[in-house]
Amino acid sequence: MKPIRIALTKGRLEEKSIEMFEQLGYDCSEVRNKGRRLILPVKNANIEIVLAKAADVITYVENGVCDLGVVGKDTIMEAGGTFYEVADLGFGRCRFALALPAGVDFYAGYHTRCIASKYVNVARSYFEKKNMDVDIVKIEGSVELAPILGLSDAIVDIVETGTTLRENGLVVAEEICQVSARLIVNIASMKLRKAEINELISRIEAFVEQQAAEKKAQVEQSVSEKGVQQV
Ligand code: PRP
Repeated sequence: MKPIRIALTKGRLEEKSIEMFEQLGYDCSEVRNKGRRLILPVKNANIEIVLAKAADVITYVENGVCDLGVVGKDTIMEAGGTFYEVADLGFGRCRFALALPAGVDFYAGYHTRCIASKYVNVARSYFEKKNMDVDIVKIEGSVELAPILGLSDAIVDIVETGTTLRENGLVVAEEICQVSARLIVNIASMKLRKAEINELISRIEAFVEQQAAEKKAQVEQSVSEKGVQQV
């Protein structure tokens, strides 16, 4: 039987995704030693890992050349597509925000605001919900440059640590929503390879629950330690 193909997003989510599969017991040594290869076998399972850019993960899963994918909710919100989104993996947490130069009031004055973003659909839908007419300009990367250079009034972008904004004199004006890594599944694969995929999903769900429980225990532990110190 041909391997189950899982597309992982290169970059930001890559390490955490590999860690997750390793903790599930899958041998990801080939992925760790990938060199310039883009399709890597998992040695102890009938699985192949495909490394792709976020939007391409969706394209490959949607078209069925990959059965599953790990991709950020930010990309899902921007690109849409027809697939099952079956699990919030709990890592890659960040937020969509409207950000602008510190000290500027986004709503002052009457001109039509210009918003720069890699996520033009997310930006458009955010301002449509506000019934606010804005111009949107697509930027491919380092979108923080746009308001600094005077191209836009503000940006809609993902913020993780906030460092990029801070180091470039920008601040969050409004939070739009939280995002994190998601597991997506091709619709036909879900039917044709139901048993294998459901087993994988169950293992991933158990992993996510365990991670959440460990995190909760850590937080409770640190709260109780702080309480003891205060006594
Ligand atoms: C993202 C985002 C911000 C930055 C935010 O860019 O577009 O620029 O990360 O992260 P921070 O809050 O931790 O500083 P990414 O690194 O994905 O690169 P890109 O701008 O080239 O797309």
